[in-house]
Amino acid sequence: MRHLMSPLDFSTEELDKLFDLANDIEQNPQKYAHACDGRILATCFYEPSTRTRLSFESAMTRLGGRVIGFSDAASSSAAKGESVSDTIRIISCYSDICAMRHPKEGAPMVAAERAGIPVINAGDGGHQHPTQTLTDLLTIRSMKGKLDNFTIGLCGDLKFGRTVHSLINALVRYKNIRFIFISPEELKVPDYITDMLKERNIPYEEVIRLEDVMPHLDILYMTRVQKERFFNEEDYVRLKDFYILDTVKMTLAKKDILVLHPLPRVNEISVEVDDDPRAAYFKQAQYGVYVRMALILTLLELA
Ligand code: NCD
Repeated sequence: MRHLMSPLDFSTEELDKLFDLANDIEQNPQKYAHACDGRILATCFYEPSTRTRLSFESAMTRLGGRVIGFSDAASSSAAKGESVSDTIRIISCYSDICAMRHPKEGAPMVAAERAGIPVINAGDGGHQHPTQTLTDLLTIRSMKGKLDNFTIGLCGDLKFGRTVHSLINALVRYKNIRFIFISPEELKVPDYITDMLKERNIPYEEVIRLEDVMPHLDILYMTRVQKERFFNEEDYVRLKDFYILDTVKMTLAKKDILVLHPLPRVNEISVEVDDDPRAAYFKQAQYGVYVRMALILTLLELA
């Protein structure tokens, strides 16, 4: 039985297969409309989410399956003190596959060890967010036609942003990727990531001003300042509007730059940018459903 804890759990060949399947689902949704008839997905969300939870629910529903679950730790038995290990053993009796989000890093891994069903990490604290990374990779592969040879700028909260950490980890396996990290000093990418890049001889730069590097980017990955991971409100207020991508900054970018964002957005991309054909973040959310459909089929060995 297979789980998904990190994007690295799949080899690049396996990812290619998964993305081919996701693209086929996009082209021929009817073919898959009953692929999960009679199957149940449990969504166990101990932390708020709209997109990830609903995109899992949408994915399973579009495959003909059903969904059970909770979207708030307070409404689950965790509020009575039940451990994640016990909860997953129960969930294993009720469903065929589980997507779990938890504020504690490693909690989905603990669940996977006890589970009788495949467990998908739907985000654990500031650690990993593998299904967002699969979404990001599928979007890049579908819209750029490749997953190698590009310069990607990651901008915003690179310290707490788990989508950023997951995506960097996944991209280092592809050829000729150059990273530009754009963040205020306080929100720089963690040392363990830059150490890993140095070790592998992967080129990266750390800068503060977005404008300076904009012309060099093939992809710009904007992120939200992760309010919920700050220890004090003052720091958050000072940093939250550090970057605002607007139409003026977009004039500095390449004609075919891809602007991505895992969403939710707060102020970091002004709404006027949404009409720019290079803004791909809503399309990215759509790819999130296809890739989760492909993932469910793969982990249930129905693909
Ligand atoms: C991200 C997350 O939860 O880490 N959202 C998502 O799943 N699309 C990004 C964020 O919350 O900023």
